[in-house]
Amino acid sequence: MTTTARQIWQNMTVFDGQTTLPEPMTVIIADGRIESVEPTGQTTDHPDGTLVRDGGVLTPGLIDCHTHLVFGGQRADEFEQRLEGVSYEQIARQGGGILSTVTATRAASEQALYDQARPRLEALMADGVTTVEIKSGYGLTTDDELKMLRVARRLGQDLPVRVQTTFLGTHALPPEFKDRTDDYIDLVCHEMIPAVAAEGLADAVDVFCEGIAFSVAQSERVFQAAQAHNLPVKAHAEQLSNLGGSALTARYKGLSADHIEWLDKPAVKAMAEAGTVATLLPGAFYTLRETRVPPIDLLRQYQVPMAVATDGNPGSSPIFQLTLMLHMACTLFRLTPQEALQGVTANAARALGLQSDVGRIAPGYQADLCVWQCQSPNELAYAVQPGRLIHRVVNGTVHGG
Ligand code: NIG
Ligand code: FE
Repeated sequence: MTTTARQIWQNMTVFDGQTTLPEPMTVIIADGRIESVEPTGQTTDHPDGTLVRDGGVLTPGLIDCHTHLVFGGQRADEFEQRLEGVSYEQIARQGGGILSTVTATRAASEQALYDQARPRLEALMADGVTTVEIKSGYGLTTDDELKMLRVARRLGQDLPVRVQTTFLGTHALPPEFKDRTDDYIDLVCHEMIPAVAAEGLADAVDVFCEGIAFSVAQSERVFQAAQAHNLPVKAHAEQLSNLGGSALTARYKGLSADHIEWLDKPAVKAMAEAGTVATLLPGAFYTLRETRVPPIDLLRQYQVPMAVATDGNPGSSPIFQLTLMLHMACTLFRLTPQEALQGVTANAARALGLQSDVGRIAPGYQADLCVWQCQSPNELAYAVQPGRLIHRVVNGTVHGG
């Protein structure tokens, strides 16, 4: 690990968060921020600094804007059931799925959750992640939700990675509230959100708006409570059916609507107007063997920014490798490699409300960068090949290499 006051990275092939720049660039970093980005041939004055690297592929540090990486236990048995033909929804309705992870998460101490989550986060970091979002949602009591969020915050304090936390109390209806969904929503709105806000433990509030989870009306109550505490909102929406969760999210100027396989045109338009990001989760689509592809052409047509994330969780996407999602977003959803790269950089930053700070290689942005062992940025989406990361830079501090 090295830190220098001013660093010079020259002759770099740069994907800047939006596009691959046509000529080799010199990137200068000072005080943890990007000072300048200029073609190497045209760099006239040579400021004082240390030449850190000459040549290579440079991207913004990758951003995984949707994960559930803090959880207790695992669900390998459920994986086998699904291979035998039992559906994700059937398992959920039988009290398995998310609820089995809730049982394991409630039983786990804060330290045990931390110890289990840390290697998952380290796997993402080894794959180039410098910013990660982590959701609660497997506690479903005030204390257990706070416990999960504390673990997420602690991971961000202990490791060189930026952690954004999201409160997802409305992930599933806890068994003790069976047939009393509105009472649970009351608890979420009147006790959990105020507690989470009072302790500063969440940067956003998420809901799972779905037939097996919460209705649009219930989700709206949660959004109102979130906004009353100045917390931005987002949703798991239109994953298994078209309920209207994404349009609702747009109405609340939400950060993102995620999954969105069943998204329709009016909702795409609403998201475009609201600036709500479409977060694509090809790992869940793949693991659940879904067949309905998100409406990529419509999203392009209305210029809705598309993010790509792992959705890393014990059930629908037990995958903790963001570069694999680049590949899957291309093969399964037909994104171009450049679109997929935008999805884990600039657009992922937007999905977290961090678009003026991270996800781009441009003057003024945080110096969160990755240097890769390949010839062009698009290769990151093309070849599934762990181990290509040479350097990971967070806030100007160089890790690895
Ligand atoms: O994003 N859709 C809801 N929640 C998660 C799944 C969580 C789980 O199965 O444990 C998701 O896919
Ligand atoms: Fe999710």
